[in-house]
Amino acid sequence: MDLKSLIHEVQDFPLPGILFRDISPILASPTALHAALDQMVAHMDLNDIDLVAGIESRGFILGAALAARFDKGFVAVRKAGKLPPPVEAMSYDLEYGKATLEMRAGQGRILVVDDVLATGGTLAAAIELCGRAGYEVVNVSVLINLENLNAMRFRGEPIHAVLTY
Ligand code: PRP
Ligand code: MG
Repeated sequence: MDLKSLIHEVQDFPLPGILFRDISPILASPTALHAALDQMVAHMDLNDIDLVAGIESRGFILGAALAARFDKGFVAVRKAGKLPPPVEAMSYDLEYGKATLEMRAGQGRILVVDDVLATGGTLAAAIELCGRAGYEVVNVSVLINLENLNAMRFRGEPIHAVLTY
């Protein structure tokens, strides 16, 4: 299935100069969603994973769907101020802006999931945050990797992308 052909490209959103790749058509198609979820974990041994961590907001969609589909638990990596204390927190640079991620402490082998890997600030912060919060990060998977924006940043780390631009 050609998932790339389903991605809707929107120039100058949310800011001038940004090409936004909208995954909504994949989410809206049962067969495409099924294929996307399967391809996000195709490279890994699911027996090595206890939990899926989804990064707010769009990572929640894919992360929760993966957790339900593959019988894993779900952990929310949230933007600041959404979770009750105590939380671990990590600030980071976004492709357009700054942000802080938070999560509650816990244990287990975790798969970190997001929709898009751009500069890598979000994913790097989430990976470090999961470790600080007590989890063992065993895999990382994104639907889209905009690799020109994060060249070499994750060299040697187990990051899997279904679609690369
Ligand atoms: C977007 C995207 C990734 C992040 C990637 O999230 O969903 O989480 O940017 O950018 P980076 O690799 O440069 O950090 P964003 O917070 O913009 O919006 P969302 O709440 O819709 O997920
Ligand atoms: Mg996001």
